[in-house]
Amino acid sequence: MATERTLSIIKPDATRRNLTGAINAMIEGAGLRIIAQKRTKWSKADAEAFYAVHRERPFFNDLVAFMTSGPIVIQVLEADNAVQRYRDVMGATNPANAAVGTIRKVHAESIEANSVHGSDSVENAKKEIDLCFKPAEIVG
Ligand code: CMP
Repeated sequence: MATERTLSIIKPDATRRNLTGAINAMIEGAGLRIIAQKRTKWSKADAEAFYAVHRERPFFNDLVAFMTSGPIVIQVLEADNAVQRYRDVMGATNPANAAVGTIRKVHAESIEANSVHGSDSVENAKKEIDLCFKPAEIVG
């Protein structure tokens, strides 16, 4: 298995409830290394750019409003098979469908306030990481 990188975002519902450390413990417990991390607050333009692939979806405006509603923590995670490994740790997008023990099952409030984002492919991980971090901010 190849070493990969994936992009993670701890979303406003989780930072509001002081869950950054609890989520990081689940990430690290699954063998993913946090090799870049910053707490920030997105502008509307930042969120629209990040979620551009969802622009035509009915939930797009609500998603942008939610992702700009409070602080987020953006991370690069590294491990063998990091993209799929983090998707397994996060659980299903809708917490109602998430497996027991996953971040979303334990912490998410709804399909929108679902605590974390993770890249859905190696190709998108690279795009998302390039959008969010300068190379010098990533220390593997
Ligand atoms: P995320 O992995 O950040 O990617 C897009 C986000 O849109 C997704 O997680 C959900 O939080 C959010 N979202 C809101 N409503 C829906 C929906 N009906 N279907 C899928 N995603 C949704």
